[in-house]
Amino acid sequence: MDNTFAAAPPMGWNSWNTFFDKYDEDTIIQVADAMVDGGFLDCGYRYLIIDDCWMEKTRNANGDLVPSREKFPHGIEQVIDYVHSKGLKFGIYECCGVRTCAGYPGSFEHELQDARLFAKWGVDYLKYDNCFKPAAQTSDMLYRRMGYALRNTDRDIFYAACQWGKDNVEKWIRSTGANSYRMAIDIRDNWNSVRYTVSKRLEHLEDGSRGCFSDMDMLVVGMKGSSYNPETGAEGCSDAEYRSHFALWSLLASPLIIGCDIRNIDERSKALLQNRHLIAINQDPESRACFKLTCDESPSTFALVRPLSDGSCAVGVFNFGDEAMKCVFAFWDIGLSAAAGHGVSMFNCLTGEDEGIRAECFGTKLDPHDCVVYRLKPLM
Ligand code: GLA
Repeated sequence: MDNTFAAAPPMGWNSWNTFFDKYDEDTIIQVADAMVDGGFLDCGYRYLIIDDCWMEKTRNANGDLVPSREKFPHGIEQVIDYVHSKGLKFGIYECCGVRTCAGYPGSFEHELQDARLFAKWGVDYLKYDNCFKPAAQTSDMLYRRMGYALRNTDRDIFYAACQWGKDNVEKWIRSTGANSYRMAIDIRDNWNSVRYTVSKRLEHLEDGSRGCFSDMDMLVVGMKGSSYNPETGAEGCSDAEYRSHFALWSLLASPLIIGCDIRNIDERSKALLQNRHLIAINQDPESRACFKLTCDESPSTFALVRPLSDGSCAVGVFNFGDEAMKCVFAFWDIGLSAAAGHGVSMFNCLTGEDEGIRAECFGTKLDPHDCVVYRLKPLM
């Protein structure tokens, strides 16, 4: 089996953040068109994923899951074929317990049967949730069961575990065959939620890499307070906050799964989600862990530094405080030999501009919740 499909964090779109249970085949077809016509597929966003609420409340007489007849009157396979015909991949949602979080049939004791059905339909990605688990079963065993089931289909299916960072998931999730794992509770469309998710991720900076990525949850960039989802929808973020959110997900090698309505996305959000320099950091084939530096002036201002496979390093500087803050980092602390007299070329990933060569250090002043991201290369 070719496992290179999990060599970099998956990129795509998911229905949950915006649509909740309010989507149908027309929505999915329109989103597929928008992914291609809007240039998202060209940037690497290839998985179109339908989240919870896609099925009927009971299995059929054979015990198979039944797609909602109301949402998919022409059958789900026709929608999946359409998604594939656009050059996209199709993702679906299930749960390791007896019911999904929204109360539809879960996969417990049906793992092999469901995996076989998904493979037959042409599913390429499974988000596997954590609700309604039988009390006697451990999480690692439940996730391992679906891992074996997926690996024994005749299809490469990306296995996205959604275990909310519970039960020390980072310790055992790789052994289940999962290709990514959610490391915290659900994101909401506001800065507090983004900040909380990042704080949890920073506790486990060394985790998540090629083959099994640490999933910080779907992106809220571009939602701007607009959602049918009472759990995810919120007041929205400022442009600076969305910028920091996307930069952090990129640096920390999280899956980049868009959650806004890309059929009606504003130009600034689209440009951010399609920033090729940030995406290149996210997709770097070595997926090395970041290390963190703090700024003397404020504990809430910090840099994340990530070595990249071409010898450069990505440096993001973030101001999580509520005051504008100046921050200076010596190249010495970043691990660059610039202190020994070498210059460092600085490429600004947010503006796409070369900012020339610096020596010794660089400083920046950041507005509250804003960031800068550079790609630095020592000159030999
Ligand atoms: C959980 C997950 C969410 C979403 C919902 C669907 O809360 O963490 O991402 O899939 O279930 O019910």
